[in-house]
Amino acid sequence: MQASMYDTLEEVRTDIAARLTEAARDRRVPMHTPVVVTADADARVMVLRDFDPARWTLRFHTDARAPKVAAIGADARLTVVAYDQPGKVQLRLHGSGRIEREGAAVDAAWAASTNFARRCYLGEAPGASADQPISGLPEHLEGVEPDDEQIRRARENFAILLVEVEEIDWFSLAHTGHRRALLTPIGGEWIAP
Ligand SMILES: Cc1cc2nc3c(=O)[nH]c(=O)nc-3n(C[C@H](O)[C@H](O)[C@H](O)COP(=O)(O)O)c2cc1C
Repeated sequence: MQASMYDTLEEVRTDIAARLTEAARDRRVPMHTPVVVTADADARVMVLRDFDPARWTLRFHTDARAPKVAAIGADARLTVVAYDQPGKVQLRLHGSGRIEREGAAVDAAWAASTNFARRCYLGEAPGASADQPISGLPEHLEGVEPDDEQIRRARENFAILLVEVEEIDWFSLAHTGHRRALLTPIGGEWIAP
């Protein structure tokens, strides 16, 4: 019998950390854009910006005025779902979310962004209604990278979402037999796929 790639829970833990670390760094991998599910049963694609394997914490960026921010304020429970199609691994991360608008982590994330990326936070609030198709951006900034003076106002709308992961449901698809494990920061168990 051929040995599976995943024979121990430690291998699963290492696999999860490797996938999420790569996903935060490489925009070409599918796990770069997981689905973030809030407790109000809404869900949306977000860009994974960072994974801290020591703290099991994910970082996302968002507009502080977005509806998801209020949803997280009302109920912090979050699920993040990511599927690596070539690797045939699904991750379902369960935890709680925290929005930060001030502080060292927010300042660092803002400092690391380009003015093109920051431009997203300069326009109309996400979800604001419009009588025609709109980008929400001021017309003079469509397709243009704002300068430092023009971007200053955007900072107050910028927030980070930190997800403290409490449990990960790891699922590996294989025609020789799927594998599935539930991991917590300190333990874990195999379960039936
Ligand atoms: C590929 C892709 C990446 C996205 N990345 C983000 C992101 O990093 N942060 C974000 O707030 N919205 C992102 N969005 C937009 C969200 O999916 C969503 O439409 C928007 O944030 C409003 O969500 P809400 O109404 O739940 O707050 C992205 C959308 C796509 C298609």
